Amino acid sequence: MMTSRNRTIQISAAERVALKKRLLKITATKKKLCGVYNGDYLKLIKALPEKSIDLLFLDPPYNLNKNFHGAKFAKQDVHSYTSWLDETLAALKPFLRTTASIYICGDWYSSVSIYTAAAKHFVVRNRICWEREKGRGAKTNWKNSSEDIWFCTMSDSYTFNVDSVKLRRRVIAPYRLTDGTPKDWHETNNGQFRDSHPSNFWSDISVPFWSMAENTDHPTQKSEKLMAKLILASSNPGDLLFDPFAGSGSSLVVAKKLKRDYLGAEINEEYCLLAEKRLLLAEQDKRIQGFAQGVFWERNTQAEQDAASKTKLKK
Ligand SMILES: C[S@@+](CC[C@H](N)C(=O)[O-])C[C@H]1O[C@@H](n2cnc3c(N)ncnc32)[C@H](O)[C@@H]1O
Repeated sequence: MMTSRNRTIQISAAERVALKKRLLKITATKKKLCGVYNGDYLKLIKALPEKSIDLLFLDPPYNLNKNFHGAKFAKQDVHSYTSWLDETLAALKPFLRTTASIYICGDWYSSVSIYTAAAKHFVVRNRICWEREKGRGAKTNWKNSSEDIWFCTMSDSYTFNVDSVKLRRRVIAPYRLTDGTPKDWHETNNGQFRDSHPSNFWSDISVPFWSMAENTDHPTQKSEKLMAKLILASSNPGDLLFDPFAGSGSSLVVAKKLKRDYLGAEINEEYCLLAEKRLLLAEQDKRIQGFAQGVFWERNTQAEQDAASKTKLKK
């Protein structure tokens, strides 16, 4: 019989003491910084060398009313949010390498500001539309169930590992060549699949939920699968990822699993401790849900992923 289990990550009183000790302290030494800093990102960057970040992941409070564990962020007019974002990007820019990539998250309303502010500082290359699915239904409007992730770079010289972020999908109409061999797809014991080029429309990722091992109580946690796509595409092992609004540490945890260096700031202590706990768990378990055999899998393919990890592709 199937049983459902809430796997949301919790912190015990004893763990709290130990996790607090792991938080990053800013010292005057020139030692390489790595880990989670509990405080304003503006304080942390003062300790960073200029031109040291390879990948900047920005998941700031969106331009809407939100309560982050007591810290309330209020919706502003578009002009004010654009100015705030502009100042944030200006503060971070000196710390980016000339080859760095930058991703900035937002909903449709924040997006108006993101493009305007980002275009002042960076080369804006794309806008990924993520079909988040979960969202509150509205009686007089369309349900808000998508988010945008803007892709920018510092220059025309940047990393993009397209082969690391292919999406494995079921083949609906399996076309064969005249000799009978599959055209651009694989026959497996579990069905027919194609590894397709990653597009700027992401429909294969859900928000973390109660039965997922990565789930926490952070209200806007990004999934590890989403982070893995960005990190694999836009960095190489050993590169430094910086996340100034780290929340529950999703970007840092995935960077660690994928052997990148990582540094994050988070103003709320509770979220910092969750991030620390997840970083500890990542030492034992490097799996990323939805990413297996070097490819990302479309939704609802867990059975095929499990089977594929036991059997090799026939072709
Ligand atoms: C959208 S959430 C990030 C969620 C994160 N990506 C995750 O997967 O959990 C934004 C976070 O920024 C934090 N924050 C807001 N202002 C900050 C600041 N000036 N410095 C550091 N953290 C800040 C908030 O407490 C909140 O947790």
